[in-house]
Amino acid sequence: MNDIKELWEIFNERFSDTGLRKGVFAAPGRVNLIGEHTDYNDGFVLPMAIDKSIVMIAQLRDDKEVRAYSVDYDSEAVFSLMDLEFDQENIWVNYLQGVIDEIQKLDYYLPGMNLIFTGNIPKASGLSSSAALEVVTAYTISSLNELNIAPVEMALLCQRAENDFVGVNCGIMDQYISRLGKEGNALLIDCRSNEYELVPLAIEDFRVVICNSKVERGLVDSEYNKRREECGKATKFFAEKLDRRIKALRDVSTDELVEFSGELAAVTLSRARHVISENNRVLTAVSALKNNDLETFGSLMTESHISLRDDYQVSCQELDLLVDLALKQDGILGARMTGAGFGGCTVNLVARNRVDQFITEVKAGYQEATNIEPEMYVSLPADGAREL
Ligand code: GLA
Repeated sequence: MNDIKELWEIFNERFSDTGLRKGVFAAPGRVNLIGEHTDYNDGFVLPMAIDKSIVMIAQLRDDKEVRAYSVDYDSEAVFSLMDLEFDQENIWVNYLQGVIDEIQKLDYYLPGMNLIFTGNIPKASGLSSSAALEVVTAYTISSLNELNIAPVEMALLCQRAENDFVGVNCGIMDQYISRLGKEGNALLIDCRSNEYELVPLAIEDFRVVICNSKVERGLVDSEYNKRREECGKATKFFAEKLDRRIKALRDVSTDELVEFSGELAAVTLSRARHVISENNRVLTAVSALKNNDLETFGSLMTESHISLRDDYQVSCQELDLLVDLALKQDGILGARMTGAGFGGCTVNLVARNRVDQFITEVKAGYQEATNIEPEMYVSLPADGAREL
């Protein structure tokens, strides 16, 4: 990624100064420590922002035109704020347009902008580069126009942009953490109330190591929607069976699941079992972190992987291999796939003094078995969206 000075040079070469407000803003990607496929079940998640982000430079214009340049794709798009239309060619433009659309729907009257952006979040790797692009766009527009958009409201409008304009049916986790992440902390998000709690990640002797399988998440969209439908089916079943209001799998206890397990189709049962057990794991993991019990935290991560692999069936051979290799290393506390699945990354908690060896060994083992060179990133919890 270019440094800020270089970015300003690119910006100034491309656009003449309008004399209006300008600035540089950033929003990070994320890694989810535990709580997978729970956000759209009104459940709990525990992500952290990573130190990889998208940086945007922008200046307001005195008309209704947006001129946007993606440094990484070396491609420019021009559109009017009065005429937002899905762009089939430049898919990245739709994230900007979707966010603008949502802000305009809140009755804000926006002027045009010149902007450029670049990033170092690996794309299609499950580290939420799309959410970061949405959030940095919203943050930039909101800051330059001095709009009064509360942080959670901003995350929600970015999610709507992705659901309605881009057409991807994601939950709230990625946009939320990209907007609200805090250095040194993971974020426990209650995806029903949309409230959060900062959970300090005081892991001096350990590191979060992210392994990118480099497998593109091919099936992810269709399988993601299928999982959502299956969870909907399970919710409907429990709502009919139980004499109280069940709005989501969040409301079903383990005992209730066991009680009715004979009446549920096998697939529905295993999907529900993942979601219900994963919600419990998140809350137990948070208590473990608060008690400085990283051993328990790590075991819960690994249990989460097994549940995602066997019950929710969103892992793949390569992710399973990365987890298996990780669990054989010295100094490993826990390993799991992270994000939607079907490729992308795993997240590992590794003793700090073993990180180098861990990286060498897992890389070698993975490469030997798959012929793919994985990428490894070590990240501490970083801040969410900010002005630079
Ligand atoms: C994707 C979605 C999130 C979440 C995860 C799975 O990252 O964007 O909302 O559902 O998958 O936990």
